[in-house]
Amino acid sequence: MSARTGTRCDRTAAWKQLQAHYAETGRDFDVREAFAAEGTARFEALSESAPHVFADLSKNRIDARTEELLLALARESGLEAHRDAMFAGEPINGTEDRAVMHFLLRAPADAVTTRKAELAEVHATLDAMLAYAEAVRADHTITDVVNIGIGGSDLGPQMAVLALDAFTAPGKRFHFVSNVDGHELAGVLKGLAPEHTLFVVASKTFTTAETLANAQSAKRWFTQSGGVDVARHFAALTTNVEAARAFGIEKTFGFWDWVGGRYSLWSAIGLPIALAIGAEGFRQMLAGAHAMDEHFRTTPLAQNLPVRLGLLDVWYRNFHGFTSRSIAPYHSALKRLPAYLQQLEMESNGKQVDASGAPLPFGTSPVLWGEPGTNGQHAYFQMLHQGTDVIPLEFVAVREATHELEGHHPKLLANALAQAQALMVGQVDPGGHKNFPGNRPSTFFVLDQLTPASLGAFLAMYEHRVFTSGALWGINSFDQWGVELGKVLARDIEPRLASGDVAGLDPSTAGLLQRLR
Ligand code: F6P
Repeated sequence: MSARTGTRCDRTAAWKQLQAHYAETGRDFDVREAFAAEGTARFEALSESAPHVFADLSKNRIDARTEELLLALARESGLEAHRDAMFAGEPINGTEDRAVMHFLLRAPADAVTTRKAELAEVHATLDAMLAYAEAVRADHTITDVVNIGIGGSDLGPQMAVLALDAFTAPGKRFHFVSNVDGHELAGVLKGLAPEHTLFVVASKTFTTAETLANAQSAKRWFTQSGGVDVARHFAALTTNVEAARAFGIEKTFGFWDWVGGRYSLWSAIGLPIALAIGAEGFRQMLAGAHAMDEHFRTTPLAQNLPVRLGLLDVWYRNFHGFTSRSIAPYHSALKRLPAYLQQLEMESNGKQVDASGAPLPFGTSPVLWGEPGTNGQHAYFQMLHQGTDVIPLEFVAVREATHELEGHHPKLLANALAQAQALMVGQVDPGGHKNFPGNRPSTFFVLDQLTPASLGAFLAMYEHRVFTSGALWGINSFDQWGVELGKVLARDIEPRLASGDVAGLDPSTAGLLQRLR
């Protein structure tokens, strides 16, 4: 079942060396002192340029020795072999016996690969999906697109459609319905006319209860409100084309079991993005991600941005013991980025056993959370500056704005820089309340512009970073068994809400069920 070679990180010699390094200089490492000693060389050494993304890691609690040992840890843990196994299409998702090949979705048609047949299918589907997107874009009778999907079938497209608003042709509104809570679908339907609406039912499995309930209700609403042509007004994006057809949807775009849900926005699941930004924009997004794939696949580990980030994550989680990381995109269009990354990281690496099923003696995924800057500054940044816990923060700044409003962008960027600076330098107040301890770590990402290509590259960088920490931890980052138990129990509880039968339930669940009936 385990498709892993290599050594779990805690069983390597480098792990022990890192423990000693942490005890010696890591625990009390002060970034301010490091800058005083190293000067600008520190910024040079601890920043990295990857395709479309620049990252400054120099405000983190690391030095050359830390990185050297972390790189040794990566090598001893077999990171490179595991990465190469993914790119070779080996079944590294051992518990589901599947390959993990989302990178193939963004490979050019003539890419050199041993997976020629799959690549040909990818491009045939991509061409068909993009042709359909262009046809719908040209159809001015369609004014509203409703994506019905949840998790990876919602978060990616929703995040990207918002992020790329500046590249979206006017004339269509995009709505995303994910929650089984009928308030959401009812709220969206209120403003719609069936003859002007396209419903996109997005579900990898086409078995997800929330999505099927919403799709059923949407179809019922469509016919009851006078809609006449289901074939024209519904499309499905799924690996289970048969189930979509059985549901009554003729227009389908498929993908494959080797695309994980949280890695699927590059597949047919990206149709809403293509509807928003067009075929050319979608291809640019894929090209940006592909450039990052190549960076991850071929760049030596020491200059490999996703690797350096993933190693920093291991350092913070397993040596410093930080349980949480915050992300602050300083661009309002990236407002759904934290939610998207939450699924990517926490569903991938929120695991307590290694790939062979053995319990792990160390922590895995941190809690990932955040809000766009500057909003977060006026809410929870207080805790980041003066709270009792150290929470590494990540800034995402975009150098050029796409709006013309005077003065806003310099203010925005100044705030991002100032917050990172304040977290690091702190402030001394002998009176206490105005004391900022400083030495609070942060990473600062810079994109020159927020474009389809830079967004694609940034997201692929994050995927590979999550891959890196997961690989060192020896876990399967590509399954998600932890979501199953709740689904099974919900199926048991739903009829009890109608019948009132609480037999066999624990007293708390029974009491609440009575209260909610
Ligand atoms: O329940 C978790 C999950 O399986 C996610 O991994 C996935 O993105 C989401 O549900 C939606 O699944 P589907 O696309 O099959 O409807």
